[in-house]
Amino acid sequence: MNQDTPRALRDAFGLFMTGVTVVTTRDAKGRPLGFTANSFSSVSLDPPLLQVSIARGSQNYAAFANAPGFTVNILSEGQREVANTFARPVADRFATVRWQDGPVGAPVLDGVAAWFDCHSHQVVEAGDHAILIGRIGGFAATQAPGLGYYRGSYFTPVQTNAAVAAGPGVVISAVIETAGQVLLVDDGLGGLTLPTARVGRDGTTAALDRLIAGLGVAAAPGFPYAVYEDVPRGHQHIAFRCPAASGRPNRGGYVALSAEGLADVTDPAMRVMLERLAAETRLGNYGIYFGNQDQGRVAPIGERKTP
Ligand SMILES: Cc1cc2nc3c(=O)[nH]c(=O)nc-3n(C[C@H](O)[C@H](O)[C@H](O)COP(=O)(O)O)c2cc1C
Repeated sequence: MNQDTPRALRDAFGLFMTGVTVVTTRDAKGRPLGFTANSFSSVSLDPPLLQVSIARGSQNYAAFANAPGFTVNILSEGQREVANTFARPVADRFATVRWQDGPVGAPVLDGVAAWFDCHSHQVVEAGDHAILIGRIGGFAATQAPGLGYYRGSYFTPVQTNAAVAAGPGVVISAVIETAGQVLLVDDGLGGLTLPTARVGRDGTTAALDRLIAGLGVAAAPGFPYAVYEDVPRGHQHIAFRCPAASGRPNRGGYVALSAEGLADVTDPAMRVMLERLAAETRLGNYGIYFGNQDQGRVAPIGERKTP
């Protein structure tokens, strides 16, 4: 083991997504104690056992190792501050949380997703930690979603999923180019548009693959060329450059990347983007646009053809 191994190991352990708990007990004088732990897991259903590991260097180690019982509080999504408080050297970790005694007398924190009240069953020393095995005497679980921990940061799995599902939609378009031409399709309004598709739950890559397959062209799903909020339509638009081998598409046709060729593109934001592509193709110098349908900036990507 070299010197960096513990850090590398911690990083590797961090690839495992976990929930976050605060494990509580009382010391011999009856003072409430607690620490943040993500090493919690279930052990046995019959008898009902769980385990959590505690650093043997923790100032709370002796109290937990000798306590008649402890409580594992599974934190809910809104409780990152509680997790922080119980992981830091705070004089009184219980000063900023509301709590009450659980059946074994260890604090049950308000607002947690679930709690397990345990009688100490076994303490197993294991390296620089000890495994506290508790026999579950009582528990309660609410509908509140749990707080997650991944790669050193907290995350809120249910809130994140809901935001993605309810947030502004994402629409992608494929800028399928070959020999100075771009593939445009009928926009149903008497004009032309890039082939577009709404992104589903399976994500952008899958939507782009489907879009290209549906056009029947041999094009490579490429890099983003413009990423913008289409405020009037209420969605995010991502255009991908997709170099193609020549060949007839199932629908639409290729037009020249020129002012005349693009004249029938009805969406102004899309026309401006394609005019930029026309100019950049002439110069051999490409950028990525970030902004909204009217204003934004082009970040260079430094792709330059040798003259
Ligand atoms: C997300 C997270 C998970 C943690 N998991 C554990 C754990 O499973 N066991 C442990 O002993 N310490 C764990 N810690 C560290 C302790 O919370 C922290 O070192 C402890 O509270 C230090 O204070 P103490 O010595 O007063 O107990 C974790 C910290 C964080 C932020």
